[in-house]
Amino acid sequence: FDGRKDTLWKFKECIPVDESKIVSLNEGGTPFCKCDKLGDELGINLHVKVEGSNPTGSFKDRGMTVGMTKAMELGVHTVGCASTGNTSASLAAYAARAGLRCIVFLPSGKVALGKLAQAMFHGAEVMSINGNFDEALEAMTALALEKHLYLLNSINPYRLEGQKTIGYEILRDLSWQSPDRIILPVGNAGNISAIWKGVKEFYEAGFVDSVPMMTGIQAEGACPVTNAFKKHADRVVPVENPETIATAIRIGAPVSDIKALRAIYESDGYSETVSDEEILDAQKLLARKEGIGVEPASAASIAGLKKLCDEGVVDKGETVTCVVTGHLLKDPNTAIDACTKPKQVDADIDTLRKILMNK
Ligand code: F0G
Repeated sequence: FDGRKDTLWKFKECIPVDESKIVSLNEGGTPFCKCDKLGDELGINLHVKVEGSNPTGSFKDRGMTVGMTKAMELGVHTVGCASTGNTSASLAAYAARAGLRCIVFLPSGKVALGKLAQAMFHGAEVMSINGNFDEALEAMTALALEKHLYLLNSINPYRLEGQKTIGYEILRDLSWQSPDRIILPVGNAGNISAIWKGVKEFYEAGFVDSVPMMTGIQAEGACPVTNAFKKHADRVVPVENPETIATAIRIGAPVSDIKALRAIYESDGYSETVSDEEILDAQKLLARKEGIGVEPASAASIAGLKKLCDEGVVDKGETVTCVVTGHLLKDPNTAIDACTKPKQVDADIDTLRKILMNK
């Protein structure tokens, strides 16, 4: 793959769509940051895969470039999704690029501002559904089954074919070695399934000689996968009224539950929950210690890492990659609420000097 432009299409031989139909905004090839300050504190070797650097600010673009390419191949006219926000932002942008009609269902009042702005601005027909994500997805799926539109939620396997390249890239970023563990937030459970598919494919191809322990983190108020894992179950029992400040992962009935649990069990991985407070603390920690700004759901991976280090699930000296899935600016309200307001002062040099010196 060397010598090719660093987008996910550098792996095009491994992605089962027609190359002549590609709809792309140059997604993938995201930063892989070594985080020594945080890693040393926890006694591990830590890297962070920064998926907020994708074109619309989340990992969803990887799935959407492939899903939209498939839509073009199939010759559909209308695409749709239900979303906690990022999928809709990404779908709206890629549908605009492809010239297709785009319908999105969002849980009313529970979508972060930046994501809503993106979906609307790229020209999607946005409907605010009186209900949560799970209900919105059920309605959207019913319309897709009636053939009104092509569904581009992660139940669509082509979405996962794009997102599996996060796994490819992590192995490549580590010079064709597997980390001991990959930690990521889990909502609808597509991404953990996709990354596991990616690392397994490259392991089976002989590019690396081990696989990572897939470790999924959920919010305490929306944790059906962790509940199932702790009971050694193969399927989740849905959580009726999921609730968390990390609205991206406010999901009670994940569609890829079976695949996600298989990924965790097969890789000897783990699943844990974190509280909203732990999520917000981790979001600030990553921003202030390492300069990486992520949205709350993404910080769940860092919060989970800290908890698993404390619990002794993550061993000292482990090589860990945390996937941070979306950009800080996706949810500006939560970021502003977590900070003290700026001081209001005149542009008077004497006053300003005094303030600085008093610090
Ligand atoms: N992180 C972010 C920032 C997300 O937007 C999502 C999912 C996840 C993690 C969880 O990934 O669903 O594959 O387990 N967001 C979806 C959406 C549900 O509609 O944007 P998952």
